[in-house]
Parts: sequence; structure tokens; C-alpha cells
Amino acid sequence: MVDTLGVAVVGFGWMGRVHTQAYARLAHHYPDLPLRPELVTVAEEVPGRAEEAAARFGFASATRDWREVAADPRVRAVSVTAPNFLHREIGVAMAEAGKHLWIEKPVGLTADDARAVADAASRAGVRSAVGFNYRNAPAVETARDLVASGDIGTVTHVRIRLFSDYAAHPQGALTWRYERERGGSGVLGDLASHGVDLARRLLGDIASLTADTAIFVPERARPTGATAGHTLATGELGPVENEDYVSCLLRFASGARGVLEACRVSVGEQNNYGFEVHGTRGAVSWDFRRMGELRVSRGTTYQDQPVATVHVGPGDGEFGAFQPGAANAMGYDDLKVVEAYRFLRSIAEGTAYGATLEDAVRSAAVLDAMVRSAADGTWVDVAAEG
Ligand SMILES: NC(=O)c1ccc[n+]([C@@H]2O[C@H](COP(=O)([O-])OP(=O)(O)OC[C@H]3O[C@@H](n4cnc5c(N)ncnc54)[C@H](O)[C@@H]3O)[C@@H](O)[C@H]2O)c1
Repeated sequence: MVDTLGVAVVGFGWMGRVHTQAYARLAHHYPDLPLRPELVTVAEEVPGRAEEAAARFGFASATRDWREVAADPRVRAVSVTAPNFLHREIGVAMAEAGKHLWIEKPVGLTADDARAVADAASRAGVRSAVGFNYRNAPAVETARDLVASGDIGTVTHVRIRLFSDYAAHPQGALTWRYERERGGSGVLGDLASHGVDLARRLLGDIASLTADTAIFVPERARPTGATAGHTLATGELGPVENEDYVSCLLRFASGARGVLEACRVSVGEQNNYGFEVHGTRGAVSWDFRRMGELRVSRGTTYQDQPVATVHVGPGDGEFGAFQPGAANAMGYDDLKVVEAYRFLRSIAEGTAYGATLEDAVRSAAVLDAMVRSAADGTWVDVAAEG
């Protein structure tokens, strides 16, 4: 029997739209899921934006006040897709109101914020999902299995990169992302958080690190109207308060080593996200821009060992829910459908599937350690309780 699940979306920028479309597509890709989302309401503070979203995507109602969502008995699950500084307040309030939470990374500004939301969810007994979408790529899941199975030997080191140009334009608007109070630690929460989640997924816990950060575009123009996503602006200049760039050396609990680098102002780089994992007998690498491919080297040759390109197919992760055969391309939005599926399955079965608030807390603890290390130039232990 199929039960309906009233859902709401809070914050209707890019992620609000993508979460909404994921809910709408769930039944197409997962017809056997015993829960069917119903778009109940959307909350958005920009005047008219919630009404426009409701008319276009089919929410039954719209509001400018997210508190109405918390009080709405029709709503059983909430997507929190507002800016980072609101994650804690909205996340805690929704959990306390008994709503299951699908919340965007990085979940607040610090590990303390993420912990507050995680604790509220656990006290309320609600399920959670967090927007670490790259781990949902079938190729990433297969890479993880390959690493875990020992196919590439003992893992020795990993390189993780997240380079983007979304903030490279000098006239890019000074939105919430560039303010410490509303955006937190810049590229750390924005991109490095995804890299940390991938690192943990592939190699396990990070024990300690040392990091260096920089701001390369120190001033930006203030927007003169409402913003969503990355827009240009011509207003007066204001200071960029948080990091454009981070590089980080990682030591994993397993003894493996890693390098993580993330930048939001890399001219010539568009979504250049990926990793290379090396082991004593092989290697596996992935590039988001060729999401369905893995480069795999395994065997017993060690030197001059061939590298093969493997196209993932219906046997890999959730690929079969989207495409009938290998090398048919999946896209970014599909990863959010997988995330929505795992969220609803967690609710239906009362067991966690996919990234949860505990993963967000651990990722945020690593980001906090990066901030501390960059400030004093030392190696920092990652808080074990993270
Ligand atoms: N998982 C991913 O790949 C990914 C990608 C982009 C952004 N994100 C995360 O998603 C979140 C949103 O990012 P975005 O790119 O969609 O930003 P955005 O600026 O496009 O959208 C945020 C929306 O929230 C609205 N908002 C602000 N205050 C509000 C309030 N009090 N009540 C209701 N709505 C409010 C804004 O008006 C805006 O429409 C961030 O936490 C970001 O880190 C995740």
C-alpha cells in the first residue's frame, strides 16, 4: 500500500527547486516506494517567490514565514534549502515539531550547529538526510566497494579536488555566501564539505590535518535586489569575509594520507570535482564531469600496470533506476532523486539509508579543524566525537 508523505521546502533558490523536482520524480524512478511525497507548502522570504514556486511546481500553499511550516500538521517532512546561517534555527525547529529533515550541507556554520540539529533530530526520533549528493553517484559507490574489497590493495593515499569558477567573476554579487555570519567559512562549507564526505566515504575517518586558506577576490559588489544562486551585481563594493581557497593535508585513522584542495574562483574550471585513490596494488579515479566513468587499475603488475575506463551500468548503485544500460548518462539532478529516495526509504523503514546528520556533524568537525589549522599553521586533531 502506498502512503502519502506531506512535504515542504524552505528556501526556494537553486537547491529548493532541485529538491522539489526530486520529490516530483520519485514515483517515476521508484514506483515500489511505499511512500509518495505530496508537495504541501513552500516557504521563501523573497516576496512572490513562494507563490511562483507553488504555481509552477504544484505546492498546495505558499508562505513567506517558515514558522508556519513548522506548525503545519499536513507537513511530515521538510527540505531545508535556505542559506547556511538558517540551517540550525530552522533544522532544530522542524525536528522539534516532529518533521523528518532533508537538509542541505554543510548544516549550519560550524560543527556545533550541525550537532545541535543532529541532537534535535535524534531527540525527536525523526529521520534525516543531508545533501552530500556526490556520494550517490553510482560510480562513486562502485569505487567505494572496490576500495573496501581490497581490489586495489591497501589504500595508501588519495587526492580530492573541487575546483569551480562560480565565484571567479569580479562582479559576482556579494551574496550571503561571502559573509561569515550567513555563509560561514566560504569554500570550506560550500565545496570542501563535499570533498570531506567523499574522503570519509572512500577511506574512513580523518584523524588529523593541516590546512592553508586564502581569499583571492577580496571585494565584491553588493546586490541591489533579491538573489538566488550566483548572479552579477553593480552595487557598492563590500569585503569578502570568508575563504575562496583551501588546501589541506589529511591523515586518516587507517594511516592513509590525503590531499584535498577546493577553490571557488578557479577561472577555466567548471565543476572539476573528483578523486584519485591509490593502493598498494592499484588505483581508482573519478571525475564528476564524466560521472558514469571510473578509471581503474588493478592486477599484480605494479609497474606499467594498465588503466581501464569502466562505464557504470545497472549493477552499480542506483544506476538501474535511471538508465537501462551502461554508458547512458545520468545527471546532477538524478543524484538528488537518489537522495530523496534514500530519505523516504529511511522514513518508511525506520532505518538510515544514505548520508545523515551524523555524517554532517563529522564533515563539519573536519571543516572546523581546517579553520583552526589555517589560523595557527599547525597540525590539528579532528574531534573524535565530531
Ligand atoms: N548539495 C549541493 O550540491 C548544493 C549545491 C548548492 C547549494 N547547496 C546548499 O543549499 C543551500 C542553499 O543554496 P542555494 O544555492 O540554493 O542558495 P540560493 O541563494 O540560490 O537559495 C537560497 C534561498 O533561500 C531563501 N531564503 C533566505 N532566507 C530565507 C528565510 N528566512 N526563509 C525562507 N527562505 C529564505 C533565499 O531568498 C533564496 O531563494 C545552502 O546551504 C548551500 O550550501 C548545496
